[in-house]
Amino acid sequence: MRTFRSRKITRRQFAAGSAVFATVAVMPGIRVAAQDATPAASPATIAVLNDGAPESDLEIFSWWTGPGEHDGLVKLYEAFNGLFPDVKITDAAVAGGAGSNAKAALSTRLEGGDPPDSWQSHAGKELQDLYQGPGYAEALTDIWNTMGLDDVIPQGLNDQVTVDGEKYLIPVGVHMGNVLFANKQVATDNGLEWTDTITSDDFFAMADTLKEAGIPAIALGSKDSFASVQLFENTLMSQLGGDAYTGLWDGSTDWASDDVTTAIETFGKYLDYVNDDHASLTWDGAMDLVLAGTAFATSMGDWAYGAAVAKESTDVLAWAAHPGSDGLYVSVMDGFTLPKDAPHPVNAENWLGVVGSAEAQATFAPYKGCIPARTDADTSGLSDYGQWSASQFGSAQVVASIAHGAAASPQQALDITDAITSFLVDKDVAALQDALNMAAQDAQ
Ligand code: GAL
Repeated sequence: MRTFRSRKITRRQFAAGSAVFATVAVMPGIRVAAQDATPAASPATIAVLNDGAPESDLEIFSWWTGPGEHDGLVKLYEAFNGLFPDVKITDAAVAGGAGSNAKAALSTRLEGGDPPDSWQSHAGKELQDLYQGPGYAEALTDIWNTMGLDDVIPQGLNDQVTVDGEKYLIPVGVHMGNVLFANKQVATDNGLEWTDTITSDDFFAMADTLKEAGIPAIALGSKDSFASVQLFENTLMSQLGGDAYTGLWDGSTDWASDDVTTAIETFGKYLDYVNDDHASLTWDGAMDLVLAGTAFATSMGDWAYGAAVAKESTDVLAWAAHPGSDGLYVSVMDGFTLPKDAPHPVNAENWLGVVGSAEAQATFAPYKGCIPARTDADTSGLSDYGQWSASQFGSAQVVASIAHGAAASPQQALDITDAITSFLVDKDVAALQDALNMAAQDAQ
């Protein structure tokens, strides 16, 4: 159960350069699900970046409508309203995992000169090609510098939000994309041995045992096309290793190589063990099967852990890196933009001040399933899972995601998605490899 206490907010303003800050004591008193720790409710400092009069409204665009992701977003809204109680926040989220519908809806708005006050974006190619390049996103370097984010955002993430020396995104959280979440009871009931480092061979041996028991080893929700791409990229990266996988994006690794063929074959093998109804389920529907024990595991980003938090079901879960990918961390960084011509410019800047703050990130992460993007955010509120993923982020080789915008251009990612969607039906290894190769050549 979640409980809330009223907040006491006090401010002491002082000038810093052209920006004005307020020191704000926020006492969130927020509890997450019983099995997860409570974020520290200590007084915090959230910078008020723009001390102009707040406008009446703030419109925020995202695709965070699913369990966990929506709860996290609400925590950010609460942090903003803690500072600006009179501002009415409009949640303009468009449903569809990984932005499958939201990105198109947002493009239509941006092309029509109707931006929200801020929108969710991934770092990397998505940010550049969809928003910075066409001129929809304003450089927010001044905000970045005012908040001192160079000191607290890891360099790899920092680089992904930088174009020609300017910053375009305020990071809020980082997800691990290559996690295998499994149901512990299913393992026990079927005599499976769960270890922290699972190879593909280990996994397929377990999958064969489960097949005899009539239990799908892999829960897939391919109604969200990104979910199949996620399973594929996790398999591809496991087969190639971090360096060769990264080489796919700068042309130094050949998409026509035998290793890519093997990865496609392995991906095909996973599909032999998926739930029959995968085409009618979304990513969280697939996670529900795991939580219910009607499927064994799902290969997904750790927003799926946020969904388990929302359903108060984290107790049933075991986790490990996707089979064969121990030592790799597919990073999926979420952040918020500053539009050109924001309808409510004071609120838009102050929204970024909130989402970029250590306090808001510490409160957001346990619900969202991510870790805070800032290295100085309080992580004591993270669950055992969150602590594990934070340690992976600190120790593993970080690689970029196809399904979540960072590795490939939006067009290449779309071509890859289409090819994988066809493969779900035809299982034609050569055709998929040709299509992947072609998509890479078109992207050059
Ligand atoms: C990702 C996003 C995550 C989560 C997920 C499922 O693209 O980065 O925050 O929302 O999609 O919708």
